[in-house]
Amino acid sequence: MNASPHNLRCTECGACIAPEAVNSNFRCPACNGLYEVVYPWSSVVRSSVTAGHPAGSDSNLPNPSALRWLWQERRTSTLAIDQSGVWRFRDLFPILKNAENAVTLREGNTPLYELPRCAEIAGIDWLLAKHQGMNPTGSFKDTGMTAALSVAAERGFQWVACASTGNTSAAMAAYAARAGLRSIVFIPEGKIAWGKLSQSMDYGALTIQLKTDFDGCMNILGELVKRFPIYLLNSVNPYRLEGQKTPAFEIVEQLDWQVPEHIIVPGGNLANSAALGKGFTELHQLGLISHTPKISVIQAEGANPLYRWFIDSNRVMRPVTADTRATAIRIGNPASWRKAASIIDELGGWCEQVSEQEIALAKAQIGAEGVGCEPASAVTLAGLKKLVALGKVTREERAVLILTGHTLKDSQYTIDYHRNELLTAAEAAQATPLQQTQHAALRKPPVVLDADPDVVLRTLEEHMNVSKSVQPA
Ligand code: F0G
Repeated sequence: MNASPHNLRCTECGACIAPEAVNSNFRCPACNGLYEVVYPWSSVVRSSVTAGHPAGSDSNLPNPSALRWLWQERRTSTLAIDQSGVWRFRDLFPILKNAENAVTLREGNTPLYELPRCAEIAGIDWLLAKHQGMNPTGSFKDTGMTAALSVAAERGFQWVACASTGNTSAAMAAYAARAGLRSIVFIPEGKIAWGKLSQSMDYGALTIQLKTDFDGCMNILGELVKRFPIYLLNSVNPYRLEGQKTPAFEIVEQLDWQVPEHIIVPGGNLANSAALGKGFTELHQLGLISHTPKISVIQAEGANPLYRWFIDSNRVMRPVTADTRATAIRIGNPASWRKAASIIDELGGWCEQVSEQEIALAKAQIGAEGVGCEPASAVTLAGLKKLVALGKVTREERAVLILTGHTLKDSQYTIDYHRNELLTAAEAAQATPLQQTQHAALRKPPVVLDADPDVVLRTLEEHMNVSKSVQPA
């Protein structure tokens, strides 16, 4: 194998640099663009695909059948890197000099659940959820963090840092602790869920709550990395995306190499949609799948810069001041918006926005299937309903929701919803009559009773009568 098996390519101006030459803020010095990781086979694939030759005919390319076999074989291995659902696919992201330097918590290997009731609600026949909340720290960030933090450790950094709405910081703190590195997180004060804040403390990070929003935290960190030898682990770091592309591999592997028609992703800083798009595109270019799925991005109405860009005939990106209870995606100036925008355009997806009331309803509907997720993840189901109504997803097409975070990340949101204390009167009033009925049937506030069997029985009977009256006809 090549001594330097990968390079970094600016996604704006196309300039290619050696990995060691990258700036501490991971921005191209010529145009301020973000980088992507490219491999010797990337250029071979590109030229052979454009020239109309089938990918796989060049000896530099990984062989599709051999890869499928190898990835399957590793499932039975006792090696940590083989047990990781990210590093199991390391052949398609050779970013380390020595794969044994990988810092892993056995991330990935997340379930693909069927959601038949949510499918019916959305008006399609077949709906799946890739539950990335089932990762070690409870979010999809682990898949990217294992990759980028391993690079930091291999290069000998002592300190790593990120700005975060909570999940990146939880993941970074955990992986840094595993590697024995020091970590510093910047989070917007009072604007992240407690579960996430508690994680970064538990894993020993220096946790700094800044009196600003996520976008303000990013600005401060951008300055810090220029002045202090600290490795930046936000998703502008292109190695994060190399790990975050692997759920695309898992999805098709879990579907016996069938490709679903649609992947629906929540959009915040907009790296995850880009990472999944890169994953599917590479699988296609290497001949592992016959075509790519569409990737659609859903944003909260109060944090919707990509949606505004998407519906703007001039296609101008204007940052917004973000506000949503889905705090994970409370981001007004997304760093990776160009990457996400290209993936939507290249793969033929769509962008939608959803209201606070729609997010709350979708989260309760996913929870009622016994799956559960955090509010930001629920925008996917809320958005799917809109995509179906618009005819962008048809009944017989197969859709996969990317559930990005675990329900326990933000239990306060769930409790407030079921106690009917979440939405303002104005937000609740936006619900259609059907949505109001759905909310009423889903809300399950806790009931406080005397410890008396007769009282409990009476309550149970009342509850059974109420349940009958809200059953759909
Ligand atoms: N869902 C969850 C649960 C998230 O934590 C995030 C991002 C997203 C979706 C959006 O992904 O930014 O790649 O578009 N959370 C980041 C953080 C920003 O700091 O944890 P994206």
